Amino acid sequence: MDGTLTFLGLESSCDDTAAAVVRHVPGQTPLILSSVVSGQTDLHAAFGGVVPEIAARAHAERLDLCIEQALQQAGIELHELDGLAVTSGPGLIGGVLSGVMTAKGIAAGAGLPLVGVNHLAGHALTPRLTDGLAFPYLLLLVSGGHCQFLLVDGVEHFQRLGGTIDDAPGEAFDKTAKLLGLPQPGGPSVEAEARQGGPKRFNFPRPLLDRPGCDLSFSGLKTALLRARDSLIAEKGGITVQDRRDLCAGFQAAVAEVLAEKTRRALAVYLERRPAEPALAVAGGVAANEAIRSSLEQLCAAAQVRFFAPPLRLCTDNAAMIAWAGIERTRSGHPQQSDLVARPRWPLDQSAPALIGSGKKGAKA
Ligand code: KG4
Ligand code: ZN
Repeated sequence: MDGTLTFLGLESSCDDTAAAVVRHVPGQTPLILSSVVSGQTDLHAAFGGVVPEIAARAHAERLDLCIEQALQQAGIELHELDGLAVTSGPGLIGGVLSGVMTAKGIAAGAGLPLVGVNHLAGHALTPRLTDGLAFPYLLLLVSGGHCQFLLVDGVEHFQRLGGTIDDAPGEAFDKTAKLLGLPQPGGPSVEAEARQGGPKRFNFPRPLLDRPGCDLSFSGLKTALLRARDSLIAEKGGITVQDRRDLCAGFQAAVAEVLAEKTRRALAVYLERRPAEPALAVAGGVAANEAIRSSLEQLCAAAQVRFFAPPLRLCTDNAAMIAWAGIERTRSGHPQQSDLVARPRWPLDQSAPALIGSGKKGAKA
């Protein structure tokens, strides 16, 4: 045995069903042998958001097929795997359960070790899969469901420096698109409109910039956009193409400015620890936004901090990050878990206080 680990990863916590095979030979760059993602945007489009029951049913129907494709594309048979990693939380309970039950069945049937992975840890450890980044580093996770700054100290060690107290930025992009009649997912369509708009015409708020710390808020911004849209409609009976572009540009500029300022503060906390080679990594679908990405890049260049943005297909939800987190957990001595349970609420940093709006039943993430 040379310590090589080949893992199958499964992801089904939100609206992407995914399976992937990742191999790691110690001392070498990890290999993504396959990564299959089956999105559900079409299934939820008519409802303006992810419908948990529809998502769960689609995961249950598609997981087997995704797994088959992932194994086939990797040229691997089940018995050649060293283990199975599955997202066991946080996320929508039906989807997480579909993944966990499927993984348990395969692990029991094929006699494979099973490792449960926190979805956020999957995102947080991705820069190690793509760039071999060494601990500690600062991670900004910005997606449709999450927004937080994490100090990543080790495979099992995460410290949350701040996060959103209400909406995630991707959610705000999606709601903005909906309010302006643009297609989902909202991020890319709002960004495309913003490119042709003027960011200064509408003076949108910069929520929580007047308060110390790294927490963020995006729901007020969405309300401000709704008001601006409605006053245009009241004034002129509708909005023009240019109005829409300017609204998008103003909204995006506000999100980018808030994220940049809060990142500057999170970096200051991280840099106090004097890491030898400081690094900021981003993950999540919103990291695809060019305006946001370039403002973070500039910030890092000014602070002499290395900036890492994994390729988009590994920034958004995928199972390669879950397989990789399973390999990392296994290498760090985490025991296999045949009694694995789904944990819809599972904060990465259990010592951090729950953020307002994180749900009546406790902190989600
Ligand atoms: O990470 P992700 O695939 O899924 C989770 O939310 O977990 O992120 C999807 C989110 C959506 O809200 C989408 O609108 C947003 O990322 N997004 C963007 C862009 N591309 C995707 N937001 C802003 N600008 C983009 N270019
Ligand atoms: Zn995610």
